[in-house]
Amino acid sequence: MKKILFVTSEAYPLIKTGGLADVSGSLPKALAEQGEEVRILLPNYQAIKTDEAIFFKSTLSIAEAGGMVAANILETRLPGTAVTVWLVDFADYFGLPGNPYVDASGVAWPNNAARFALFCRVAVELAMDRGYLGWQPDIVHCNDWQSGLVPALLSLEQPHPATVFTIHNMAYQGLFEKTVFTTLGLPKSLWGMHGVEFNGLLSFLKGGLAYADHITTVSPSYAEEIQTPAFGYGLEGLLSHRKAVLTGIINGIDAEQWDPETDPYIAQFFNAKSLGKKAANKAALQAKFALPINKKVPLFALISRLVEQKGIDLILEGLEEMLAQPLQFVLLGSGDKGFEQQLLAFAQRYPDKMAVFLGYDEGLSHLIEAGADVFLMPSRFEPCGLNQIYSQRYGTVPIVRKTGGLADTVTDALPDTLADHTATGFVFDDATPGTLLETVKRALLIYSQPKLWRQVQVNGMKKDYSWSESAKQYQKVYDAL
Ligand code: ADP
Ligand code: GLC
Repeated sequence: MKKILFVTSEAYPLIKTGGLADVSGSLPKALAEQGEEVRILLPNYQAIKTDEAIFFKSTLSIAEAGGMVAANILETRLPGTAVTVWLVDFADYFGLPGNPYVDASGVAWPNNAARFALFCRVAVELAMDRGYLGWQPDIVHCNDWQSGLVPALLSLEQPHPATVFTIHNMAYQGLFEKTVFTTLGLPKSLWGMHGVEFNGLLSFLKGGLAYADHITTVSPSYAEEIQTPAFGYGLEGLLSHRKAVLTGIINGIDAEQWDPETDPYIAQFFNAKSLGKKAANKAALQAKFALPINKKVPLFALISRLVEQKGIDLILEGLEEMLAQPLQFVLLGSGDKGFEQQLLAFAQRYPDKMAVFLGYDEGLSHLIEAGADVFLMPSRFEPCGLNQIYSQRYGTVPIVRKTGGLADTVTDALPDTLADHTATGFVFDDATPGTLLETVKRALLIYSQPKLWRQVQVNGMKKDYSWSESAKQYQKVYDAL
């Protein structure tokens, strides 16, 4: 048994903006089930909602540039589990309503560097057992740039717990002007090309990549990709230099929350043996989006942050022709205002074929996974991706681009994979609207052969995407440290 401090900026169901929350809400639970003692460290955002009790645990003195400040540690549980969560309570930084990282118009909070530097410094105090909690971790497991300064700062403490840094997305790096490094009062020895400096800027992400004892990322393919210029954003050299301690571990899913046999958000439970019942979810979904209720017409879906990463532009470019096909399309997402407006305009022009819900809605995302026939995920890059996995679990066949975790989790329906029952979706390579459209047509062709379609659905539903295997791989990483 190891003691693990799991440092993360979001964890479902407490606070979620994307897949990091899904992972942080389910991996610690899986690790705990496999015998590890895990505590999650999370900022106490005002937006956190929970029915679990919250207790005051201690007050820490944290060094900031302007002097010492007091931050409280509150304790709660990950709802519905026995996993302890420690909340870093510092109202000036985390007491604002809304999104953890950006304001209502999508612009980063101006004091993000200070907010997450404080979060990192609290993590370091707890890692060194200076938080009056009587608990010292063996491993500090950090996630994404918001916790990137933890391995860097811990490297200055001797002896210190081993550090693991997981990359969920290289596109977000926590880059700030050099002056911020000084304002934050960070130790001078951390500056430099082997430290947190990146092209003259302060990079929180690099703090993780340069100093962690082990680096992981969320799929084997992405682990390779980020060692190349196309995906490494200039950090590919550092990553290939560290490749001996870089491991790609595919994300698991919370198989209880995402289970078509018990999902409270869907209209009708079903499983691989009662796939016919999926039709009730399709009808409910069509009704919800005010589309014609039609059992036969293939219903395509997309749930996503509406950002460049997700290939929304590819969809928009091919949408006119896609909607000329016999299909319906529902979309749930929010993000880039330009994408939002263009998608809405299409939905207004084709009210019988396409419907859009702009916003964030956890329950609706489950109904979409349950009711749709096809899930679109043409990402330009995708470290892991979770919706293509949820889709397979719900008999919703994914169309994905061959990148990152999408390449690792979806098997293209080709004559040989159909013959040996391994096909679980449709995979394409070229990031062009033409190739996406060809793949949509390929899916429509198989959809028109119900027996074959059902086979692809069942192949996906039978795969094991629970955490058990991947959690063991994390344990191996911990053990080796
Ligand atoms: P990323 O983390 O890059 O956003 P993932 O596929 O790993 O991509 O995870 C996205 C998660 O966020 C999934 O659980 C997905 O269902 C959820 N999600 C994304 N957008 C929305 C939305 N508008 N409403 C509800 N859930 C959403
Ligand atoms: C990131 C990635 C996504 C991944 C998620 C959880 O947000 O964009 O691909 O699934 O983190 O690891």
